[in-house]
Order: sequence, then structure tokens, then C-alpha cells
Amino acid sequence: METHRQLAIGLFGFGVVGEGLYKALQQTPSLNATIKKICIKHSGKKRNAPEELFTADRNELLEDPDINVIVEVIDDSEAAFAIVTMALKNGKDVVSASKKMIATNLPALLELQLETGRSFLYESAACASIPVIRNLEEYYDNDLLHSIKAIVNGSTNFILTKLFEEQLDPREALLLAQQAGFAESDPTLDIEGYDAVNKWTFLLTHAYGIIESPGNILFNGIQNIQPADVIVAQSKKQEIKLVAQAQKLRNGRVAAFVLPQFVKQTDHLAFVKDEYNGVVIESGFADKQFFYGKGAGSFPTASAVLSDISALRYQYKYEYKKLYHHIPHELDQGFYLRVYLSFENLDNISRDSFEWIEEWHSGENRKWLVGVISWRNLKTSSWWRENNNSLILAPDPVIEDISIRQLRKKSLELAGIFDI
Ligand SMILES: NC(=O)c1ccc[n+]([C@@H]2O[C@H](COP(=O)([O-])OP(=O)(O)OC[C@H]3O[C@@H](n4cnc5c(N)ncnc54)[C@H](OP(=O)(O)O)[C@@H]3O)[C@@H](O)[C@H]2O)c1
Repeated sequence: METHRQLAIGLFGFGVVGEGLYKALQQTPSLNATIKKICIKHSGKKRNAPEELFTADRNELLEDPDINVIVEVIDDSEAAFAIVTMALKNGKDVVSASKKMIATNLPALLELQLETGRSFLYESAACASIPVIRNLEEYYDNDLLHSIKAIVNGSTNFILTKLFEEQLDPREALLLAQQAGFAESDPTLDIEGYDAVNKWTFLLTHAYGIIESPGNILFNGIQNIQPADVIVAQSKKQEIKLVAQAQKLRNGRVAAFVLPQFVKQTDHLAFVKDEYNGVVIESGFADKQFFYGKGAGSFPTASAVLSDISALRYQYKYEYKKLYHHIPHELDQGFYLRVYLSFENLDNISRDSFEWIEEWHSGENRKWLVGVISWRNLKTSSWWRENNNSLILAPDPVIEDISIRQLRKKSLELAGIFDI
């Protein structure tokens, strides 16, 4: 068996991640890996690396028989998919950081791995520096994963931290995140939750063997969170986080979503500030485990790319154990969520959508309520994210079964007592 082989790398992209990797590799001589060529988009730019390394012609890398590893860290998901496809078909192992490309092409990428037998690793695409994919694959290689709850987007977490701790305006906070290199080139990808749901798509595959397109997962970002919501959270000794959650239900299916959520100040996820990410895994016998680390930025992201490159020296591959060696789970569509909703005008909310409402509050500018609503209702409607309505999940929001409550409501109605 070939072990600790020499790696000749063709690098695509020399931006925040690519340049970070270039510098990190220079400081890791023991890795036995060298960058042979770097493909970028604009050949005229000044770069902090020797000019002869660069080309704008992707074939110079993809068709070079001496290059055995392609590292793809570009910000164009369509081009990235074409590059990864060609690289795998040309017999090269591939490391990628492009979460959008992976999330939107996962079935095809799985096929390509089966067809070519090459490795395709993408740890940095999930939580940058936190090794969550390999842990889900190797350590949680069983059916005992009860739930996984995570902060997977560094820039929204950075913005929320600034809203809570420095009372910054959301736009100012976004600018700071962009200046620090945490935010995506297109910030709506972060703010409106697309980046987080993209990551959740393939983390669900590694956690539960679920293959779904991002559009089938219920999600929203932090774009509607109001200063008034921050005040409510603080009055309850809670924080607001953009939480990606997956939880195994009694029926064997999985409830999964990515939504803003109130998090108790004592919760592990409340500890996650700024551009950090955090993952809380609950499993049989072990109870809770908490992973914490930088979720964005040049070196933290490069560190996971480096670790994937290192794993290629001994032919490491994802086995997709939950998909191929277990019975894969399915997403559940019949559960309910306890939500907080703040709004300006009662006409903008669909009261009938709630199974029941537990609290009503009326402030000067905004009103808010706490109620229970079905996943299906949220998935098939958009009123809750329009007109400045701000929907935030309650802590521990999943309700599997509301039949007892419905029975109680029915009997109260029969007795002529209105129950909200
Ligand atoms: N930044 C982070 O913290 C972070 C964390 C985890 C994952 N990621 C992911 O990593 C990837 C790169 O992110 P980044 O922040 O490094 O982006 P970036 O700073 O915007 O750099 C993008 C790089 O890609 C190059 N590029 C774009 N299209 C190309 C093409 N068709 N062929 C060759 N090169 C091309 C650009 O070339 P030019 O230099 O010529 O313009 C640039 O060097 C993205 O998929 C992102 O989602 C980023």
C-alpha cells in the first residue's frame, strides 16, 4: 500500500483561503506537499507569491499528470463544480472549501466519488477550523446520534455578537465582518441564511445519511432581527443565535432546520461569540459534547484544508457511513415548533397559522407573541419573514406531538371556553 506519498498540488484560488493555505504550507515542510501551480481568475493582480506559479488557464493544472491533488478554494460555485468534476475524472484527489458548490451538487459529487474512486474532502467547508465532518464520519459511526445543534456561520455570529455586546447597527457590524475577511463575497449568502443551510445540507449527510437539496430544508437568516428582539432576549437572560439543528424524533425521522433561536445564557452555544463556530452533539451514553473553534478567516480555514491535504497522504476517503452502511434517515415533516414572533402590525401576521398562542405583548413600536406552529406551515408560507416580521425559535423548540393539547382545546371549545 502506498503511504505518505509526495503530494503535488494544483491550487485554484488565491484569495482569503488560498493565500492562507499557501503561507500555512510554507510553514509545514513535514507535510511533503508542494504547490506546483495556482490558477486564478484575473491574471493582472499583484500577488504575494512568485509570478511564475500563477496561471489563468485551468487546464494547466487539471491536465498536468504530475499534479495529484487539486485544492479548490474559489468563490464561483459553478466553475468550482466544473473544476472538481474534471479533477476527479482525471484521477486527482480533491480538497474543496466551496460549501455552496457541495450543497447544490451533492448527489452528483457522491456519484463521481463512487465512479472514480478518488478522495473528495471538504472539512473546511463546514465549520472552517472545527473537525466536525471527520468526527461525524469516524467517531459517531453508529446510530446513537440523538441531536446536533450548531452555529455554522461565523459572520452572522459576529454580527449578532456586535448587536448584543456593542449595540452596533447591523450594517456597521457587517462591514466589520467583511473587513476582517469573515463574510462571503456576497453578504446576503451569510445574512439570509443560505451559507448556513448549505453547510447543514452536507452535515446532515454525514450525521444521518440524509440527502436533501438546501431548498427542502426550512431556513432563514438574521436579516429581520430587530433591536427590540435583542432587548426581549436580554430581559429573559438569553442570546439570539443562528442555530442549525437536527434532532432524531421518536418516529425515527429527523427534524432539521436553520433558524434564529433564543439560547439561554447558560447554553454551550451562548458561549460562542464573534466569528467562532460551535457544535453541540448529543449522543447515547456520552450525553453532550461541545466542539468550538474559529468558523471563518484565512488561517483557521486553511488549517482544515491543510488537515485534508495531510489525510490524502494515506488515501483517506469519506465512507459516508450513515448513507451506505446504515439505513439512512429521512427528514420529518410533521413536527411543530415553539416560536417567538415580533411584528409591527397585526395585519401582517397569520394568526390562524398558530396551533395555539401562549403569550402576547404589546410594545410602543413592536408587538410580540409566543406560539406553536407546524413545520409544514412555516415551510409552505412566507408571511413570517416578510414586512419586518421577526421569527425566532424558543429554546428547545421542537414539539413532536400536539394531540393532547388539541384534545384539550377541543373539549374547552365544546364546553364554550375559548382557549388561546
Ligand atoms: N473566507 C472564509 O473564511 C471561508 C471559510 C470557509 C470556506 N470558504 C470558502 O472558500 C472559498 C474561497 O473563499 P475566499 O474567501 O478565499 O474567496 P476570495 O477571497 O473571494 O477569493 C476567491 C479566489 O477565487 C479565484 N477565482 C474565482 N473564480 C475563479 C475561476 N473561475 N478560476 C480560478 N480562480 C477563480 C479568485 O481569483 P482572483 O484573485 O483572480 O480574483 C480569488 O483568488 C469559497 O467557496 C468560500 O465559500 C471561505
